[in-house]
Amino acid sequence: MRLIALSGSLRARSSNGAVLRSALGFWDGPAATADIGALPHFNPDLDGEDATPPAPVAALRKAVAAADALLLVSPEYAHGVPGVLKNALDWLVSSGECVHKPVAVLTASPFPTGGDHANAQLRETLRMMTGEVVTAACREVPAIGPKIDAAAERVTDEPTLADLATAMAHLAAAVTVPSTPDPA
Ligand SMILES: Cc1cc2nc3c(=O)[nH]c(=O)nc-3n(C[C@H](O)[C@H](O)[C@H](O)COP(=O)(O)O)c2cc1C
Repeated sequence: MRLIALSGSLRARSSNGAVLRSALGFWDGPAATADIGALPHFNPDLDGEDATPPAPVAALRKAVAAADALLLVSPEYAHGVPGVLKNALDWLVSSGECVHKPVAVLTASPFPTGGDHANAQLRETLRMMTGEVVTAACREVPAIGPKIDAAAERVTDEPTLADLATAMAHLAAAVTVPSTPDPA
């Protein structure tokens, strides 16, 4: 089972990057993180029938198409999804690589809300893209600051690690046994 991960933070020592790396540690199979920071801004004029998609877009689409499941890990900015991640998803809407693909959404925040707005928005976007949002594999991680070792880029909080392991197990299960559609 191959997993492709997308991070909504481009920041060095990102707390969401720590969550992403720790979550990947619980994935039983090949896993990679897409470089979405290199993508151009989405422009349908670059994506028409007669257009050749920019190389970073083609690479993203190839990586997502080759994956059995998708993991989105993101902070929340101004109660929304970081532009870099929404931009990546916009490039995947019409090309269809996310269709029926199991997806987990993890958001981490220094605040008690755990990035709940961004989490809900990402799930909604993926549902619109006909991705299979695996609710049992989604998490909002609150008060992330003391739960990570930023230098090691890993989660250190044991309950959070256990919860991430559970989330990734649910995502893996959805690859082999497709779940029923997630209610809005
Ligand atoms: C411009 C800006 C807006 C932010 N807005 C929110 C927000 O709406 N909700 C939230 O939980 N955190 C917000 N934060 C705090 C981020 O969650 C925090 O900076 C987090 O560490 C970013 O994730 P990262 O460590 O993975 O880069 C904001 C941060 C910045 C810089």
